[in-house]
Amino acid sequence: MIDISHVNKWYSPAFQVLKDCTTSVAKGEVVVVCGPSGSGKSTLIKCVNALEPFQEGEIKVDGIRVNDPKTNLPKLRARVGMVFQHFELFPHLKIIDNLCLAQEKVLGRGHEEAAAKAMKLLERVGLNDHAQKFPAQLSGGQQQRVAIARALAMDPIAMLFDEPTSALDPEMISEVLDVMVDLAREGMTMMVVTHEMGFARKVAHRVIFMDRGEIVEDADKEDFFGKPRSERAQKFLSKILSH
Ligand SMILES: Nc1ncnc2c1ncn2[C@@H]1O[C@H](COP(=O)(O)OP(=O)(O)OP(=O)(O)O)[C@@H](O)[C@H]1O
Ligand SMILES: [Mg+2]
Repeated sequence: MIDISHVNKWYSPAFQVLKDCTTSVAKGEVVVVCGPSGSGKSTLIKCVNALEPFQEGEIKVDGIRVNDPKTNLPKLRARVGMVFQHFELFPHLKIIDNLCLAQEKVLGRGHEEAAAKAMKLLERVGLNDHAQKFPAQLSGGQQQRVAIARALAMDPIAMLFDEPTSALDPEMISEVLDVMVDLAREGMTMMVVTHEMGFARKVAHRVIFMDRGEIVEDADKEDFFGKPRSERAQKFLSKILSH
C-alpha cells in the first residue's frame, strides 16, 4: 500500500534529513516508527502524503507516485488520513461541521450524507453527544478522537499518525489508543510515529527505528522487542522502557 524507496531529502544543502530510506507497508499492516527526537520520523511520514517534498527516490501510495507532478495531491491526501500531535480542528466550526467540511468540499458529498457519516463515526469514537459543541469545549483526548473520526470520514485507504498521544494528559492517552487499537484490529493500514510501546506490542506488525535520518532497524515486532539488532536501537529501547 505504501512503498518508500531510496528516499533522500535535504532541508538545506548542508543538512540531509532523510538518508536512503526504504521500507513498505502492506495492506492491513500496522507499522510503528520510533527513534530519538530529530531523527526524521515526522519528515518521513509527511513525505508519504506529500506534505513535504523530497529530492531523490520514490514513494508510491496504492501504486500512485507521490512525487509525480501529475499526481492529484488533494485527492491523494484525502485518501491517506493524517492525524497530528496537535489536533488541528477548525476552532470556529462545530464538531459535526469539522467532520463534514472535507467530505463535502473534496469528495463532493451532499450535506445529509456527510452528516450521517459524521454521526456514525462520532459514535464509533464515543463522542456522538458532542456533535454540536466547538473544539475548545472538548478535552484534548476528545479532540484527538474527533481528529481521527474526521480523517476516517474520508474513507482513507491508509492512516498516518504523528505522535497522536504525546500532547495528552496520561488519563486521556488510553482513550485515544483504544480507538487506534480498534482501527488496527479492523485491518486499517497504519503508519504510526509513537513512543507508546504498549500500543506497538499490542497491534504493530513491524517496528521501524530511525536515527539521524536513517532507517536503522525495520523488524518484525517480536524481533524488535526480543532484541533489536543495532546497538542504537537497543539503547533507545532500554531508555524508553525504563520510564
Ligand atoms: N521545515 C524544516 N526546515 C529545516 N529543518 C527542519 C524542518 N523540519 C524539521 N527539520 C529538522 O529535521 C530534523 C528531523 O525533524 P523531524 O521533525 O522529522 O524529526 P522527528 O524524528 O519527528 O523528531 P521529534 O521526535 O522531535 O518529533 C530535525 O533536526 C529538525 O530540526
Ligand atoms: Mg516528530
